[in-house]
Amino acid sequence: MTALLEVRGLVKNFPVNTGVFGRPKSFVSAVDHLDFDLHEGETLGLVGESGCGKSTTARLLMHLVAPTAGTIRFEGRTVGTSELPLKAFRRQVQMVFQDSYASLNPRLTVAESVAFGPLVHGVSRDEAAARANSLLERVGLDPARFAGRFTHELSGGQRQRVNIARALALQPRVLILDEAVSALDKSVEAQVLNLLLDLKEEFHLTYLFISHDLEVVRFMAARVLVMYLGRVAELGATEALYTGSRHPYTTALLGSLLSMDPDHRAESAPIAGDPPNPIDPPAGCRFHTRCSFAEPVCSSRVPVLTPLGSAHSVACHMSEPGSGHGCAPQRAA
Ligand SMILES: Nc1ncnc2c1ncn2[C@@H]1O[C@H](COP(=O)(O)OP(=O)(O)O)[C@@H](O)[C@H]1O
Ligand code: SF4
Ligand SMILES: [Mg+2]
Repeated sequence: MTALLEVRGLVKNFPVNTGVFGRPKSFVSAVDHLDFDLHEGETLGLVGESGCGKSTTARLLMHLVAPTAGTIRFEGRTVGTSELPLKAFRRQVQMVFQDSYASLNPRLTVAESVAFGPLVHGVSRDEAAARANSLLERVGLDPARFAGRFTHELSGGQRQRVNIARALALQPRVLILDEAVSALDKSVEAQVLNLLLDLKEEFHLTYLFISHDLEVVRFMAARVLVMYLGRVAELGATEALYTGSRHPYTTALLGSLLSMDPDHRAESAPIAGDPPNPIDPPAGCRFHTRCSFAEPVCSSRVPVLTPLGSAHSVACHMSEPGSGHGCAPQRAA
């Protein structure tokens, strides 16, 4: 599979506690040396606890915030350079947020909201209106009933359908869905997830599906990237990762999922302690303050993302040959 988006060494430090002369006194390490590929036609899930850097990653990919370091390539071309200027890139990659109300202009009708992007990009009025009508139809909002309504007249699920239509109006190749169904009731959530699956087939889309909800990610994504405090903890094919996680953090996350299931309550493996402060993250493996397998090497050296097979990799000293952790395999001679 070809990589549509290649993310390499992506870093975002947000300045905080700005001093009297405007100089930041410290930084939040929101994303730290992130490397991953988004393959054409796949759905990659991005999971992790609140504050681990999922939305920052999405905003960096969209170039809504400038990276501290790192590169993003789209079809091999570096985004934001003469190879691929931002405007051309933005048309290809669109985003749907959780907060559907805030992302829609209350003064525009539903049809105007959907037609807005194409108009800004130079599409004619008639063509933009036709595109809006057909997309509204496609996302399950009958244009005869909904085109002239305002967003405050819609339910949460309907608003999210408008946001999806709006994201598709520029005919993008990639959708970044950041907690796109997290605010919806379970029954509405299922309808919107099924709609997203249908749209993906019909429009040959590629999804980065971000959610804190592991069940929803399992339903949607063929591969999953687990983030912990701004870094990749584990990356792999969904079923391999859900049934054979190798990073203690992934295992703990999945344990908390099982603990919600009354039949498996005894298997719950709650994650010890609170998440550390991202202003001064732990040295070495950022999970060492909460990990029951931590050994001295864990607080002194950052684990390398190590391939376990063709479709699974993990950043843990226990899986890194010769790392010095008691459980690590021997380095090959
Ligand atoms: N604009 C900002 N200024 C300072 N800190 C920020 C900003 N945006 C996000 N953060 C911090 O970056 C970290 C990652 O946040 P975020 O990407 O929103 O995580 P998630 O989406 O996984 O919940 C958090 O500690 C958050 O407080
Ligand atoms: S590197 Fe060490 S602290 Fe980090 S997850 Fe692995 S065993 Fe735990
Ligand atoms: Mg978020």
